[in-house]
Order: sequence, then structure tokens, then C-alpha cells
Amino acid sequence: MSEVNNLAESIQGQLPGELSGWLHAAGEAARQRGLRLYLVGGVVRDLLLGRPNLDLDLVVEGDAIALAKELAGGSEMKLVTHPRFGTAGLRWGGWSVDLATARLETYARPGALPAVQPGSISDDLVRRDFTINAIAVELSPDRYGSILDPHRGRDDLAKRFIRVLHQKSFIDDATRIWRGVRYEQRLDFRLEPSTLSLLKRDIDWLDTVSGDRIRHELELVLQEEVPEKALRRAGELGALGNMHPSLRGDDWLAERFEQARLLKSPDLPAMGLYLVLLAYRLSDAESERLISYLKLPKLLARPLQAAQAIKERLAMLAAPDLAPSGIYALLHGYREPALTANVLAVSSPLVKERIRLYLSKLRAIKPALSGNDLKEMGVPEGPGIKRLLNRLRNARLDGEVKSKKDEEECVRGWGEKING
Ligand code: CTP
Repeated sequence: MSEVNNLAESIQGQLPGELSGWLHAAGEAARQRGLRLYLVGGVVRDLLLGRPNLDLDLVVEGDAIALAKELAGGSEMKLVTHPRFGTAGLRWGGWSVDLATARLETYARPGALPAVQPGSISDDLVRRDFTINAIAVELSPDRYGSILDPHRGRDDLAKRFIRVLHQKSFIDDATRIWRGVRYEQRLDFRLEPSTLSLLKRDIDWLDTVSGDRIRHELELVLQEEVPEKALRRAGELGALGNMHPSLRGDDWLAERFEQARLLKSPDLPAMGLYLVLLAYRLSDAESERLISYLKLPKLLARPLQAAQAIKERLAMLAAPDLAPSGIYALLHGYREPALTANVLAVSSPLVKERIRLYLSKLRAIKPALSGNDLKEMGVPEGPGIKRLLNRLRNARLDGEVKSKKDEEECVRGWGEKING
């Protein structure tokens, strides 16, 4: 792998024609402005590995926003600019390209976001996380496809190593601990031995990173194809314990994640379910602490809280003579991820079966009679209607009524009992 010096053919062969043609044109447009343009980061790594990746990151030694405006000019492209960061995004027909001004970064203090100023492509590569992510490819027409690899990333690709660029890398930005683990497990690489020692030495620097940024890293892990691999490794290395000391990336979790993937329900985004499973074995108070540390948005926090609430009902759900209406009463109001996480997490086959029954059947059962029907039958308006509808639902759930007619008879019978 280290002998590859030009990626022009790989770009041509591995990227869709429309994108590779566009890269040529972009290089030419940059040349006309007297600027050098480069393809960088993950896509270069993946071109060298032959892995699919259509997330294109470009770096220009000059004003990225002005160049992006020119590239978008007069076309269907959507342009989003971030003047504060000197970056721009171009989106068209399903493609997405990010363009940044080459930058020099300095860290005022560990964990903080870096101070940024314009720089050269070498400055831009030296600020990066790992050697395999610090390779650039020239797009300027005179040297189209040439590789710039000042940190010997190609050697590390060949050795299958994740290696930092300098000794203070994890101190500057401890999120790189999570990133390193993620790449290692995704690519089946190894953290290079001295990088591994630095990572272990610097594990406590994770404390300098805000919960928000850690949540972002966790989300990225949970979007991996097999997230439990990275969680297991993060557990071994202490990164998971730093997030919360009771979190574990063990066999229990791996088995549940695998089962969760097999469900593949469109109503059930995998990430939400993974997160509930990860936090499932925490106590209620621990789970709350994790939610507030990670600043989980309500959409992700609620299923965690619901799963905890269901956990407290598991003993009741195991009662031997529980009728379907009893199952309904215990589970009613909880949504899919929390319920499904409990199906996957509990060991009792009876409880599993009961939650499954609720999900597949019981939760959709309703009486045939409506509130209006009851009014027409002479039931006075007010809370009594709701009570009767609930009684009817329970009768349906327990198989005591099967048709609208049965329900009408029931209501009359109850009325007679009450009045008579
Ligand atoms: N990068 C970095 N340090 C970070 C984040 C990003 O050095 N903390 C650099 C790396 O060079 C990385 C590039 O920015 O390759 C793009 O970042 P990102 O999109 O997060 O990484 P990809 O390598 O594209 O990762 P993935 O394959 O997971 O999308």
C-alpha cells in the first residue's frame, strides 16, 4: 500500500463518474484563482483501503467560501456557508461535499475547541487526529491525484495501525480517544503500541471534554455497523467508565445489540434502542445522572426513563395469573424503544412473552363502542363514559366480549347492576 503515490485512478474507479468529474472541475476552478485544492481525511483513507465513502472533504489553501460560491454558481447546488469557521457545504442530487480553508490550529487549553487561523495544507494535516486521516490528495490539474503523506499514514494503513501524530494529541482533544477506538474497531486495525500507552495515560483527560461533545462521540459509535465492538474496547480502556462508572461493554450488551439489529423495525431507529440497552443496567438515579451529563435531548432521554419505569414493573408482569387486561394496565403509555429494550433485556421467558404480546396485539385493542355510542345508549356525559370505555377495553382484552353487540349487552348489564 505504501508504494501508491497517485490516486487519480482510484478516484476515477471508486467514485461515481459525476463526483470524480466534479473533482476535476473543482481543481481547475481553484487553479484559475491561483489556489491549490486537496481531497483530505476519511475519503482518502477509504480510497486507499478500497472502502466505499462518498463523504468528500476538500481543503483549499485560500478562501474556501469564495471558491465554494464560484463552484455553486449558476447550478442547482445548495450552498451552506459557515463564515466563522471558513467552511462551506455543497449539496446536489444526493451528493455532499465540504470545503474548508486550510488551517493552523492551536489549543488554548485541553478539551476546549482550538483557536484557528488560515494556514498551508501541511498545517492542516498536522492538526489532525491520526496518521491514516492525515493524508491529502492534490486536485490541482498539474498534480492531479498526487498523494501528500507527511505523517506516513500509508505505512500505518499497511500495518493496520491507528497512530496519533504527537505525544499530546489526546490531551489537546480527548474526543480522539473515542475516535481512535471507533476506527480501530471499524477497520479491524490496532491502536499502535505507543499510541495505546498514550491513550491509557491520558484517559482522565476525557474529564476536560463537555458532556455534549461526549454525547456526539457516543452517537457516532452507535451509528457504526457493529457498535458493541467499540463499546467493548472503550470499556476495556476506561472510556466507557469515564462516561459513567457503571456502564459495561460486555457479552450481555453485545448479545442484546445483535438481537436489536435483527429486529430492523422502521419505527424503531437502532440508535435509540442501543442507547436504552446501554443504560439499561444502571439504577434509576444513575440513568438520570447519565442523561444530564450527556445532555440527552428529550427524544433520547424519555425512552431511557421509560425503560427504567418498566423495569420496576417486571415483578408484577411475572405474576402467574395476570390477565391480558393486567398486562395492558402495566405497560400502557410506554413506547416502542423502552418496551423492546425490556423484551431484549429481561431473562424471564414469561415476561418477554407478555411484553411481546402487548406490543404485537394488546396495545391496539379498543372497544367497538365509542363515547358517542354510549351517550346514545343513555349514559350521562362525564367521567363515567371514560370509565365504561376502559371497562369495555378490559373486557375485550380478556375475551369477555367479541362484538359490538356483546359490548352493548355488557353496558346494559352493568347499568342494570348499578341501577337495580
Ligand atoms: N478530524 C480530526 N480530529 C477530530 C475530528 C476530525 O483530525 N477530532 C479530521 C480527520 O482528518 C478526519 C476529518 O477531520 O478524517 C474528517 O472528520 P470526520 O468526518 O469526523 O471523520 P472521517 O474520517 O470522515 O470519519 P468517518 O469515516 O467516521 O466519517
